[in-house]
Amino acid sequence: MRRKLVAGNWKMNKTFQEAEELFDELADSLKNGQEQSDVEVVVCPPSVYLEMAHDLGSDEEDETQVFFSVGAQNVNEHASGAYTGEISAPMLASMGVEYCIVGHSERRRYYGETDSLVASKVESLLQCGISPIVCIGETLEEREAGKQFETVERQLKNGLFHLQPLDFVRLVIAYEPVWAIGTGKTATPAQAQEIHAHIRNVIQEQYGKAVAATIPLLYGGSCNARTAPELFAQADIDGGLIGGASLQAEEFLKIVNSFD
Ligand code: 13P
Repeated sequence: MRRKLVAGNWKMNKTFQEAEELFDELADSLKNGQEQSDVEVVVCPPSVYLEMAHDLGSDEEDETQVFFSVGAQNVNEHASGAYTGEISAPMLASMGVEYCIVGHSERRRYYGETDSLVASKVESLLQCGISPIVCIGETLEEREAGKQFETVERQLKNGLFHLQPLDFVRLVIAYEPVWAIGTGKTATPAQAQEIHAHIRNVIQEQYGKAVAATIPLLYGGSCNARTAPELFAQADIDGGLIGGASLQAEEFLKIVNSFD
């Protein structure tokens, strides 16, 4: 059985006070067990709020009681040094961060994140025991040219196929078609399933059935409480990476509850 996972990528949103309010709302609800207990919830706030997320996401008296896991949105590929403004994997690990998004299309587009940089960041995170959530997905141009399969295959091979099979235990992959991000245009369940199945096949060819069968594959791109149930019901979709709809507790928690 594969893990079910829903991760919220807040991107560059929320003030300190707003973040505190949302962490509290999520923790209160998850603490009371109103959501499906077999779904892991990950919250990826801006890095300045990671410590607060870690504090409010677990029980004050018993830290083993975790209501939601904490993820970062980015990491530098180096472990330390003169890289002004950057944050490293050892720093994240020392703060209790368990996940980190890598290769998001916004970072690829605005900050020149290439597949080989993704590969270095993944390596750095794994060395610190942090689970990378690696984002792949085609642009609208690539889809219109029928190149969606080719694109995700290239991103997978160049970003991840230097890894050992055991590394995949910690890995999460998110398929986020660029044309669906923040546009309100969700991929249809059939479109998403088709690519997810392809991703799993490509991994199986390289690493075998056991690795391919256990890696969680998330869908991201205008996923909301209305579209999540049908997406999550697909055979190869194990959850979601949620942007806009993760900024409001009620909507996000409905998504968490969208599995059969
Ligand atoms: P939206 O859900 O806002 O489309 O964003 C998806 C995304 O980029 C999550 O990483």
